[in-house]
Amino acid sequence: MSLTVGILFTSLKPVLDVDCEKLAPLTPSVYNAPAPMRMTREMSPFEQHRFSVAPMMDWTDRYCRAFHRHLSRRARLYTEMVTTGAVLHGDRARLLGFDDLEHPVAVQLGGSDPGDLAAAARICADFGYDEVNINVGCPSDRVQNGRFGACLMREPALVGECVAAMKVAVRVPVTVKCRIGVDDQDPEAALDALADAVLAAGADALVVHARKAWLQGLSPKENRDIPPLDYARVHRLKARLPHVPISINGGIAGLAEAAVQLAEVDGVMLGRAAYHDPGLLLAVDPHLFGEAPPALDPFAAIEAFEPYVSARLAEGTRLHAITRHMLGLFNGRPGARAWRRHLATEGVKPGAGLDTLRDALAHVRRAPAEDGEPVAA
Ligand SMILES: Cc1cc2nc3c(=O)[nH]c(=O)nc-3n(C[C@H](O)[C@H](O)[C@H](O)COP(=O)(O)O)c2cc1C
Repeated sequence: MSLTVGILFTSLKPVLDVDCEKLAPLTPSVYNAPAPMRMTREMSPFEQHRFSVAPMMDWTDRYCRAFHRHLSRRARLYTEMVTTGAVLHGDRARLLGFDDLEHPVAVQLGGSDPGDLAAAARICADFGYDEVNINVGCPSDRVQNGRFGACLMREPALVGECVAAMKVAVRVPVTVKCRIGVDDQDPEAALDALADAVLAAGADALVVHARKAWLQGLSPKENRDIPPLDYARVHRLKARLPHVPISINGGIAGLAEAAVQLAEVDGVMLGRAAYHDPGLLLAVDPHLFGEAPPALDPFAAIEAFEPYVSARLAEGTRLHAITRHMLGLFNGRPGARAWRRHLATEGVKPGAGLDTLRDALAHVRRAPAEDGEPVAA
């Protein structure tokens, strides 16, 4: 779906009307509309969370987010999780630095000490982040040993204290990303307890990964696939809390599925689908926000991205650090394999630059139509 959606859009009619089979081109006048006019509309907190790209360690770094921003102006972008220890004692510029064009961007913190979280949140707010999110969903052993992440599902009162401390420290929204429970917890009770505790403490929005984390015996990767998804549990939470922006996460494969979820909740958060098939982000603004996309198609998006790439290369960033996040952009389209191969082999060489990126793109432009690979579901 990615590229079709990247090229063809419905007119800017009602949001959420996503029928990928019936997409008609946007009119040129839409693209020619002055950029400020397209961007000044204020959004409610509910709208602000309508679509987001999940925090993903090693994936959603600043280069990835800058790339995604060239595909959607409205998607809310999350950093990788950063621990409070790293924020308080580490190289802040490296850990937290980001480019202005990434807004709206949320930082995700990992921690469980209210004082540390408050101090870290303030540092992040001073860096200019638009939201501070606390991780109550990561199941890794390292995180459990630090008593944060998913194991905090068992300690709603402590998470409430953390949120309360962060709220005092910053003016930007403080949000929570959690699971529906861990291990043998009853998700009805566990999710309500967590939600009630953090909302009483002032949390501004919740993102719920709609499955449990099993804290013993599963790797973090398995914990993203094996515990069964329970979307209905998140829908019930939303029905109980109509006044709170609630986003759902987990296993949402594309915008058609996102639209189905948006009938039940305020927001959808996509992780792996958005990362592996970033072209789907081109349809987010038109379909979910009724606005023009930032680029007509993936080619135009890359062209618009070039100045950013150039600036980073000039600072000494290796091309591959940026293009590794772009490999899936042409999935399903003729030339996609050659695009990936070129970036993977040439993009890693010392001195690789904009010409390498352009050469990779040329493989897609000149690929014969029959070279198309099956479109990822
Ligand atoms: C490589 C990778 C790294 C992740 N790192 C984080 C993280 O730092 N913080 C977090 O809350 N979730 C993390 N997650 C979980 C995702 O945010 C998301 O909850 C999960 O992938 C389910 O959503 P999806 O099915 O749309 O991918 C990570 C997922 C992946 C694939």
